[in-house]
Amino acid sequence: MAQPPPDVEEDDCLLEYHYLFCPDLLRDKVAFITGGGSGIGFRIAEVFMRHGCHTVIASRSLPRVSMAARKLASATGQQCLPLSLDVRVPAAITAAVDQALKEFGKIDILVNCAAGNFLCPASVLSFNAFKTVMDIDALGTFNVSRVLYEKFFWDHGGVIVNITATLGTRGQVLQVHAGSAKAAVDAMTRHLAVEWGPQNIRVNSLAPGPISGTEGFRRLGGSQASTSMDVLASPLRRLGNKTEVAHSALYLASPLASYVTGAVLVVDGGAWLTFPNDVKLLEDFASSAKL
Ligand code: HXC
Ligand code: NAP
Repeated sequence: MAQPPPDVEEDDCLLEYHYLFCPDLLRDKVAFITGGGSGIGFRIAEVFMRHGCHTVIASRSLPRVSMAARKLASATGQQCLPLSLDVRVPAAITAAVDQALKEFGKIDILVNCAAGNFLCPASVLSFNAFKTVMDIDALGTFNVSRVLYEKFFWDHGGVIVNITATLGTRGQVLQVHAGSAKAAVDAMTRHLAVEWGPQNIRVNSLAPGPISGTEGFRRLGGSQASTSMDVLASPLRRLGNKTEVAHSALYLASPLASYVTGAVLVVDGGAWLTFPNDVKLLEDFASSAKL
């Protein structure tokens, strides 16, 4: 069986990279990546750039995306434009997309990777906490997709990759907010694939499992004593890494997937099939948090 490609834990570029796909796969393409300054989004930007793509990386923190852009450009020799936006604010998205189009003249690929999450039982989740995660993950994905459609994709075509999760598939405990939001995005993927297919726009979801070196895994798994046992009980018996997710995003964004739209690609080593999901986790969380 293939070994996972090497990765690094931090938001730094890879120390070594061995090509599995053609290095020209995204030559002269431009990708707009929300949440591209950290974690999975950072690695997607890097792998796209190593395949000839220029990128725009956008999130709330300008210092974060600016530092990431310097690292990415220097490691890959491609251009990376860092922009500040909140995916909950359509006017800020419009301004960022205008700036990106001014800089590059086009956008070929959108990766909706921005998200927010934390563990919390539904019974004590505040109304605003649920709304906040829905706003960032679900509405944010629609907002950015809608602006890109209007500004460029409707008459040029394009590719959208939505980064989701399998939380809602089995109703994961402590995750009603993120699971509901990501399930909404998977539905959105299918709706937009149907409505925008005639404009030559492909829309797919990519659902990662537990991925090492990410804020998402730190928030969801880091402090849970049972995590390592859970991971060992999953079919591939290990965590995934960011490069593995980025390779799947590269496939979906590239002409290799030219006839793939409206799909959800689960990239989790089969974890969703076997991960524990019972009220014991809820009880452990409640007692450690003194709820
Ligand atoms: C309960 C919480 C909370 C927590 C915040 N809230 N953190 N409730 N437990 N740990 C509540 C607040 O009390 C508030 O409600 C409401 O949520 C909004 O909080 P703000 O801090 O004002 O929101 P904001 O500044 O917009 O920040 C959004 C955030 C934050 C999601 C809360 O954590 C963030 O910016 N996260 C981005 C990074 C991130 O989460 N990365 C991981 C993505 S991984 P009240 O009622 O008090 O006003 C991921 C994994 C998916 O998505 C699946 C993995 C398998
Ligand atoms: P991460 O590094 O925290 O990535 C989230 C990114 O979203 C950050 O760069 C953050 O930057 C940005 N962001 C958050 N709120 C935003 C907003 N309102 N507007 C614009 N940008 C915003 O976490 P990650 O673990 O790599 O997660 C990346 C994606 O993978 C997410 O969609 C997540 O749901 C998904 N996922 C992760 C895992 C995992 O194991 N890590 C598993 C399944 C799914 P700013 O703070 O600068 O805004």
